[in-house]
Amino acid sequence: MKIPLLVGNWKMNKTIAEAKELAQDLKEKLKGSKGREVVICPPFTALACVSEIIRNSNIKLGAQNMHYELKGAYTGEISPEFLLEIGCQYVLIGHSERREYFKEDDTFLNKKINTALKTGLSPIFCVGEKLSQREEGKTFSVIEGQIRTGLAGIKDGVERLTIAYEPVWAIGTGRNASPEQAAEVHNFIRKLTKEIYGEEIAQNLRIIYGGSVTPENIDGLMAKEEIEGVLVGGASLRAESFLRIINYSKS
Ligand code: PGA
Repeated sequence: MKIPLLVGNWKMNKTIAEAKELAQDLKEKLKGSKGREVVICPPFTALACVSEIIRNSNIKLGAQNMHYELKGAYTGEISPEFLLEIGCQYVLIGHSERREYFKEDDTFLNKKINTALKTGLSPIFCVGEKLSQREEGKTFSVIEGQIRTGLAGIKDGVERLTIAYEPVWAIGTGRNASPEQAAEVHNFIRKLTKEIYGEEIAQNLRIIYGGSVTPENIDGLMAKEEIEGVLVGGASLRAESFLRIINYSKS
């Protein structure tokens, strides 16, 4: 049995003061939670203070992005080594907002995943189709393209990879994929990774769902065995709702 992974992506929200308050609150109230792996991804500016707060707790730290080089003339970018130094274990790669607003494509993301794994970070590679692509019946081919290109040539450390299925039409819209829709794509991703990596590695990869996850729909989503965790945006910005998601009840 894999330990479910529950990730909070704070996006471009929370000043340092606000981030400290939320991290403190989560830490205090999470004390009893066992058998669930919890990760929070604050903005870069709050990583250091949040890292201090959650040290020796059962909450892990993640970053929302990184560069694929370790150092150099890349103004405004963040090296994976900086993330490790500050205490990050996880890093989101290829979130749909990075793809959409910053034109990151799968060839570019492939370099990031490669570097993340080499440096010892655990990347969470986000994939997902747009609404128009789903309506045109292209969901599986879009996901297949993202995964084949994103993971091309990647082998070492791949057991640390998590894949997050995040349909673009479900992100921040209040319209989550149904548990059945998500499970169908998760099954497809599992099959594809088996083809790429073989049975054993693929079986151990965690595949999580993201897109309008809330306290109201979490139990239904997590009831599907194909869904091995969630990536939560909006509902991770308040301790109460994220805690309810973390403490989902198993059916
Ligand atoms: P949401 O965001 O939960 O606000 O839909 C999810 C995500 O972008 O990872």
